[in-house]
Amino acid sequence: MSSIFLLLLALLLSFQSSSSVSVGSRSILRVVNNKNNGDQHDFAVDLNATNFDAVLRDTPATYAIVEFFAHWCPACRNYKSQYEKVARLFNGADAAHPGIILMTRVDCALKINNILCDKFSVSHYPMLFWGHPSKFVSGEWEPKQEKSEIRVIDDGRTADRLLNWINKQMSSSYGLDDERYENEHLQLNMSDPGQIVRAVYDVEEATSTAFDIILEHKMIKTETRASLIKFLQLLVVHHPSRSCRKGSAEILVNFDDLSPSDMWSANKEESVTGNGNGAMGNFQICGKDVPRGYWMFCRGSKNDTRGFSCGLWVLLHSLSVRIEDGESHLAFTAICDFIHDFFICEECRQHFYEMCSSVSGPFNKTRDFALWLWSAHNKVNDRLMKVEASLGTGDPKFPKIIWPPKQLCPSCYLAGSSRIDWDHDEVFKFLANYYGKMLASLYKDKGLLGDGGTNRSLVEDLAASTNAVVVPLGAALAIAVASCAFGALACFWRSQQKNRKYLYQLHSLKNI
Ligand SMILES: Cc1cc2nc3c(=O)[nH]c(=O)nc-3n(C[C@H](O)[C@H](O)[C@H](O)COP(=O)(O)OP(=O)(O)OC[C@H]3O[C@@H](n4cnc5c(N)ncnc54)[C@H](O)[C@@H]3O)c2cc1C
Ligand SMILES: *[C@@H]1O[C@H](CO)[C@@H](O)[C@H](O)[C@H]1NC(C)=O
Ligand SMILES: *[C@@H]1O[C@H](CO)[C@@H](O)[C@H](O)[C@H]1NC(C)=O
Ligand SMILES: *[C@@H]1O[C@H](CO)[C@@H](O)[C@H](O)[C@H]1NC(C)=O
Ligand SMILES: *[C@@H]1O[C@H](CO)[C@@H](O)[C@H](O)[C@H]1NC(C)=O
Ligand SMILES: *[C@@H]1O[C@H](CO)[C@@H](O)[C@H](O)[C@H]1NC(C)=O
Repeated sequence: MSSIFLLLLALLLSFQSSSSVSVGSRSILRVVNNKNNGDQHDFAVDLNATNFDAVLRDTPATYAIVEFFAHWCPACRNYKSQYEKVARLFNGADAAHPGIILMTRVDCALKINNILCDKFSVSHYPMLFWGHPSKFVSGEWEPKQEKSEIRVIDDGRTADRLLNWINKQMSSSYGLDDERYENEHLQLNMSDPGQIVRAVYDVEEATSTAFDIILEHKMIKTETRASLIKFLQLLVVHHPSRSCRKGSAEILVNFDDLSPSDMWSANKEESVTGNGNGAMGNFQICGKDVPRGYWMFCRGSKNDTRGFSCGLWVLLHSLSVRIEDGESHLAFTAICDFIHDFFICEECRQHFYEMCSSVSGPFNKTRDFALWLWSAHNKVNDRLMKVEASLGTGDPKFPKIIWPPKQLCPSCYLAGSSRIDWDHDEVFKFLANYYGKMLASLYKDKGLLGDGGTNRSLVEDLAASTNAVVVPLGAALAIAVASCAFGALACFWRSQQKNRKYLYQLHSLKNI
């Protein structure tokens, strides 16, 4: 867990002679979304042999449709508008039903895609396949295969028929005219513990949204810097998403460069042209694909409910079960200060800070802190339950409840009492599993946690990305040392060692 700090130190120490650390500008500068906003905007995602696996591996969608076509095929050209009518419903931030089906196309007339199209035995154009996105990754299909997890869509000749096919497949009732937040078909079943696996995308979305809000509202000031740095340190070590850990680390290493004290008054144009300074404005803390513009687990049934504040809660809970005992009080103050300084819902931050302030002794155990956060959240639920009932401002499909309900965690309830009587050991066990293991299970499958699947460690990633923008050493070193706060022990003794061989040792330690 703590190897990132070791890396920071190792990097800094080994670069001492050149007195600067550099960071890839490509990863710093926000990749400009080349979305075409004109009427001809395509909703289906163009894939080719280069990005096919990566896009299908990283998508949050539960299903994918891949259309193989050839651009010279007249029938394909005519089909395009039909396919697009369906893709409009599922792809992109404005989709009526985002995050459920990723609709893509591959042009088999391009040389680069020859092998790909062969692997799927494409026999006619257009040819449509259906399956879980991960099944397409390094996937293949053969006509005579009996039990393939990829299926040919045999009746998708018009938009209507394609959507019918999908509806049959999913027992859904999507319509071609569905608009965002109308005809809402939320598939969430809140008593199904398995739903939390989709929340890992919301945790990314919330992290990235929080960071965007901080920048947009120029909230990094002399008096708030420290609390942001502390929170980033917590994220670097314990964020459930690897890409957010990596992004947080890059921000920390470059903090002084990315946020020179005069930058926050500077205008944004300057940072867009970014020659290093002010690059934070373009930084996407969880990678270039986030924010995606929609929520999965936290999606409300209405425009203005749930979303960010739900994602933020899930982030906080997921951090609270990941920290180690010795870090619990530090994590507590990091979270309290972060909410206080950077959550711009005035009532929320005040209420929350009051709850923080009423804690007397320090937290000594992960369990104590996780349970405190859980109970603080329930206090908020309890209050909002009444407010939302009287004002009708809540989400009708997600009424506030004292959580977890019996269906989610029967053992959390002590029997034989009329009022709720918690078994705190069971509650903690439940929280740890729900926000710990389960929340990250999807990413584990996909190897995106960094401790399975791909072999590249965060350490290597970060080392690889340190190539362009020059950062003052002193400031970065100070931050790296401060970062030792989390994962303290290992950090301490290793920081004594000052040479490069260190990086190699790190590889064999633990990929974080
Ligand atoms: C720090 C903080 C303070 C807030 N304070 C206020 C406030 O004062 N006034 C206000 O109007 N809104 C406040 N909000 C927003 C409010 O709490 C909800 O986030 C918002 O109303 C959306 O509710 P939701 O139904 O999506 O569920 P949320 O309350 O956002 O919860 C998200 C998910 O977490 C799980 N969950 C629910 N309860 C618990 C629990 N006790 N422990 C662990 N997991 C749980 C559930 O799966 C739930 O769907 C606050 C949000 C945050 C992050
Ligand atoms: C493959 O797709 C990517 C992403 O859309 C694009 O950048 C790249 O140029 C494409 N490659 C070819 C050979 O078309
Ligand atoms: C919700 O999930 C629970 C637990 O998996 C299941 O028992 C219940 O039938 C589901 N409800 C609906 C409406 O699907
Ligand atoms: C949804 O939100 C957008 C902006 O966020 C707003 O313009 C629109 O009117 C809202 N729609 C509804 C139905 O509330
Ligand atoms: C943590 O330990 C300290 C010192 O042993 C003690 O004073 C404090 O009460 C403990 N905190 C909690 C929440 O138990
Ligand atoms: C991947 O990890 C395994 C075990 O940790 C190691 O033996 C192997 O050499 C690694 N492969 C690469 C390419 O780093």
